[in-house]
Amino acid sequence: MTDSLTVRDNRTGQEYEVPILDGTIRAADIGKIRSGEDEPGLAVYDPGFVNTASCRSSVTFIDGDKGVLEYRGYPIEQLAEQSNFLEVAYLLVHGSLPSKDEYDQWVHNITYHTFVHENVKGFMEGFRYDAHPMGMLMASVGALSTFYPESRNISDADNRAIQIIRMIAKMPTLGAWSFRHAQGKPYVYPDNALSYTENFLSMLFKMSEPKYEADPRLVKALDTLFILHADHEQNASANAVRSVGSTQVDPYSAVAAGVGALYGPLHGGANEAVLRMLKRIGSKSEIPAFIEGVKNGNERLMGFGHRVYKNYDPRAKIIKKACDDVFEVTGVNPLLEIAQELEKIALEDEYFVKRKLYPNVDFYSGLIYEAFQFPPEMFTVLFAIGRTPGWLAQWLELTQDKEQKIARPKQIYTGSRGLTYTPTDQRWV
Ligand code: ACO
Repeated sequence: MTDSLTVRDNRTGQEYEVPILDGTIRAADIGKIRSGEDEPGLAVYDPGFVNTASCRSSVTFIDGDKGVLEYRGYPIEQLAEQSNFLEVAYLLVHGSLPSKDEYDQWVHNITYHTFVHENVKGFMEGFRYDAHPMGMLMASVGALSTFYPESRNISDADNRAIQIIRMIAKMPTLGAWSFRHAQGKPYVYPDNALSYTENFLSMLFKMSEPKYEADPRLVKALDTLFILHADHEQNASANAVRSVGSTQVDPYSAVAAGVGALYGPLHGGANEAVLRMLKRIGSKSEIPAFIEGVKNGNERLMGFGHRVYKNYDPRAKIIKKACDDVFEVTGVNPLLEIAQELEKIALEDEYFVKRKLYPNVDFYSGLIYEAFQFPPEMFTVLFAIGRTPGWLAQWLELTQDKEQKIARPKQIYTGSRGLTYTPTDQRWV
């Protein structure tokens, strides 16, 4: 068996041998197929990149049929259970687990870069009282490029490293201040004596007490959620970071593009929709009627189904367990019972079984976030903080990948050609 494709162009009768490498064919090889010397080469039409590999990557592996997710080869279940978010961030960015010295240095560096320039505070205060925290986060992370103009020197490894540390360190500060802004509460400065996740909770919820003390079970649960969201290979926001990063702009601008992509309801916003759905269902007795409506095509069961996973999303399993730990502290969210019953009924129903629809990461995460008393607008900010190391690992890989070029897709032109312009004094008579 030869690893190649024989393509016969029926327009010309010519045959082409197209090599297959890593289960893919190169679009450039397809471009060699022409119907005539002066004709453009054949192109591939793939809106949404449904079947197009845009890069080679060693960051995250997903097997959607088996429900497998690995960061740098380590199963997500082991990392969620035994590691912590900053170690996972190191793993994603550096490609291997840290030694004790490397870990201590990494945590020290990130802890000591959590503060932002006072002028950042000044411009964040300028947002309207009802500004969406994702809009504030996107603008403020992009604005950091003006505070670190040297960050545009992306070919320098040391320079890249410090910007990565700064961004992972400062995202919780920007996210927490966006939250405090919406609440009309004073911004809380970082506390370097606290862990990454404790410090984030302190910046969110501290009032007049001299030191904020979070319940360790809540800290662990939020840290686990950050780990679960840390990367997911070439998703829409990673693709946005890579696409903007391919212009060789600074990493703050590239990550701001990622935050923008995540802001959209088709990407980071589904957890909010799940919560609204559960509230609308209201009680277990209403579930059968709701499921009937879904099967009749009236609406979707939010938090179910995934483009890649055709099995239980491994992250959903872990979140389900984290729910128990959080509710032990906060009391059970009454919507949990509805969610569990909904899952049970759906997983036994032929409609969902046949289509391989399983709970995804968003099915239970909204319930946890609500238990923390986050308003729905904050859910995606939490996602963005968790996803930052993944965006940066993808960006770092891009900057060192010799095969990468500026992202510039083709189009199929459907407009007019060769029209003659008529000046306004003749058209507007
Ligand atoms: N409820 C009911 N039916 C569904 C659902 C659902 N949640 N998801 C898919 N289906 C059905 C479709 O109607 C379709 O049925 P058909 O073959 O009879 O037409 C079939 O399953 C395949 O669905 P597609 O839309 O083709 O699958 P796709 O891969 O394009 O969509 C998506 C994936 C968008 C996640 C979809 O499952 C969905 O809308 N789910 C609900 C929203 C959601 O939870 N999004 C979060 C995803 S996780 C994340 O982004 C972090």
